[in-house]
Amino acid sequence: MFKKAFYQQSKINLDLYKEKQMKRRITSLAGKHGFSSFMSFYKAMLADKSLYDTFINYLTINVSEFYRNPNQWELMEKVIIPMIIERKGRAEDIRIWSSACSTGDEPYTIVMLLNKFIPLSKIKIIASDIDLGAINKAEQGVYPERSIKELPDDLLKRYFTVVNGNWYKISDEVKKCVDFKQLNLLEDPYPGNMDLIVCRNVLIYFTEEAKHYIYNSFNRSLVQDGILFLGSTEQIIGAAKYGFKSIRTFFYQKAHEI
Ligand SMILES: C[S@@+](CC[C@H](N)C(=O)[O-])C[C@H]1O[C@@H](n2cnc3c(N)ncnc32)[C@H](O)[C@@H]1O
Repeated sequence: MFKKAFYQQSKINLDLYKEKQMKRRITSLAGKHGFSSFMSFYKAMLADKSLYDTFINYLTINVSEFYRNPNQWELMEKVIIPMIIERKGRAEDIRIWSSACSTGDEPYTIVMLLNKFIPLSKIKIIASDIDLGAINKAEQGVYPERSIKELPDDLLKRYFTVVNGNWYKISDEVKKCVDFKQLNLLEDPYPGNMDLIVCRNVLIYFTEEAKHYIYNSFNRSLVQDGILFLGSTEQIIGAAKYGFKSIRTFFYQKAHEI
């Protein structure tokens, strides 16, 4: 009942998210606001937009940071980006999509690394998330200290200014390189002809059925030999069945169209 009603409102299909985890989160937030049943909580959300926004925000788990898992970003800079540039011929033609970009930390990290190869004025990447609240924060581009703690010092100095004591504001030139939009990975059409898709720390929340759908859709969204970059706990079991081959831990290459 709750799931159906919520889907009609939000187009978020809770059946495709791992049940135990989702139930625990909903129960805890509803309880915190004094509701004993999911439906009474849902009705209150319909009447109170800020409660609805709080719920979406709580549900979507926006935790992110720049240069999250540094080893993988080093590999991205030293191996993956050069490989894509070589295949593509012209670095400025590379198509990149950060597909659950949260507050922007991930796509902005990609831009900073790409900038080691091409000028910012030639970089344009796509970043999307289901959560408009997170996208708004990404577009503001102001971050607390914990978001930048893994970022190498030279990148921090080059692309950020400190505001209000201990907040870090990303430069407008980097911001301009990213086109943000709202996109639900379980509902909306995916952009095509991608050379690199980054999808990190979101698949862990989905059921196996949802993951099948997403892997297949990523395959179709990538060009031949395009790369899929996943999060630290998100290896694809049986990658070949989705037309992928593993080229490094957490990096997959499209071997054929499925
Ligand atoms: C934990 S964050 C990961 C952010 C970033 N990729 C990283 O690794 O730091 C998970 C993000 O997935 C988004 N998300 C959850 N369900 C989604 C869906 N169905 N479609 C697109 N994004 C979704 C959330 O809104 C959230 O911003």
